[in-house]
Amino acid sequence: MKIKNLIVFGTRPEAIKMAPLVKEFNKNSDIFETKVCITAQHREMLDQVLEFFEISPHFDMDLMKQNQNLYSLTSDIIIGLKPILEDFRPHYVFVHGDTTTTMAAGIAAFYSGSKVCHIEAGLRTFNNRSPFPEEMNRSITGRIADFHFAPTDTAKENLLNENIASNTIEVTGNTVIDALELSVKRVTESSYTDKEIEELNKLWNPSKKLLLVTGHRRENHGQGFINICNALAQLAKENDNVQIIYPVHLNPNVQKPVYQILDGIDSISLINPLSYPGFVWLMNRAYLIITDSGGVQEEAPSLGKPVLVMRDTTERPEAVDAGTVILTGTNTEVIVDEANKLINNDNAYQQMSQRHNPYGDGKACYRIIEFLKNQI
Ligand code: UD1
Ligand code: UDP
Repeated sequence: MKIKNLIVFGTRPEAIKMAPLVKEFNKNSDIFETKVCITAQHREMLDQVLEFFEISPHFDMDLMKQNQNLYSLTSDIIIGLKPILEDFRPHYVFVHGDTTTTMAAGIAAFYSGSKVCHIEAGLRTFNNRSPFPEEMNRSITGRIADFHFAPTDTAKENLLNENIASNTIEVTGNTVIDALELSVKRVTESSYTDKEIEELNKLWNPSKKLLLVTGHRRENHGQGFINICNALAQLAKENDNVQIIYPVHLNPNVQKPVYQILDGIDSISLINPLSYPGFVWLMNRAYLIITDSGGVQEEAPSLGKPVLVMRDTTERPEAVDAGTVILTGTNTEVIVDEANKLINNDNAYQQMSQRHNPYGDGKACYRIIEFLKNQI
């Protein structure tokens, strides 16, 4: 009998980081029967990823509601997964990272008796409210999981310090590097055409330094985003050699301040969230990336791009230690000062843009599957 896997995800970053695992399991279909279940905690932003990686989910719970809240999303996921788990009866349920989908699907899988495999396990800021609610989501998932796939040695250390048995932890690298490699390979195929990239090519001004911006963290909603937008407006005003491109997250708590403060400024382009290959294309052309995203922080060092992270805490100390990432928080002045240093000081810029990738070698999914084969 084959081993039955259910891979569950709901948001854009989970989809990007789980897509290579789905592909790798499909290569091992003689041993594993693998099904994909999307909660669709995100809709458009998730569908963009599924389309690019050519993944057709077996189950689509279609849960996203406009400006959804954590209470109803959590309960909808747990209740919605019950019949899927009871019908398919997977041996292993895979969840990723720290979203509400991750935590709620982990609990549902535990109730059903399936073994829970946590991908991107062991990240910690040690501050339960930052990032909110992600630190708690991943801590709960860590308690529930039977197997922990940690991206780095630091993440493994965090789990060992929580008394997780070391023979249930495997350091694999982050699957985001597998995704990045798959994407670069696909985009460089001669048959590949992409209308979005053609449009981006028209928007991009190669004679200017491109600042690429993303942001969405819940703890930055409100004053945090107002500060961030004021910083971007000031940077645009002070530097006529700079172009800012900002694909704006669809969360209304992000859209509102961003469009209110930044719409209409000449050198700032506010655009819709990009599909993965379009965003990677733009990252490759960026001079500097300004973000509060987790995934972008992991991808940028691979591409040799300095990153300012608009957060006070980090669960990804590796790139900060390596000097390719600086934490700025959401203070307007600090963001402007740090960005100006890199825009105007070539030495500081060169030091930060040294290519260094602490997050993996593109073989994380292979390692996850080898580990599970050894459990048989
Ligand atoms: C979620 C995750 C966060 C992750 C982020 C990645 C939680 C609590 N938060 O935050 O950990 O880093 O995704 O982007 O799990 N929306 C759309 N279309 C979309 C996606 C979102 O319209 O495709 C809008 C909807 O109004 C939705 C809102 O954004 O209700 C918020 O989505 P939600 O998933 O709750 O929060 P995010 O801020 O996206
Ligand atoms: N990304 C994308 N399109 C965009 C912006 C980001 O495909 O317009 C990708 C990015 O390359 C990274 C992931 O989305 O892999 C990060 O998602 P997000 O910042 O929403 O979530 P986080 O990583 O913070 O959880």
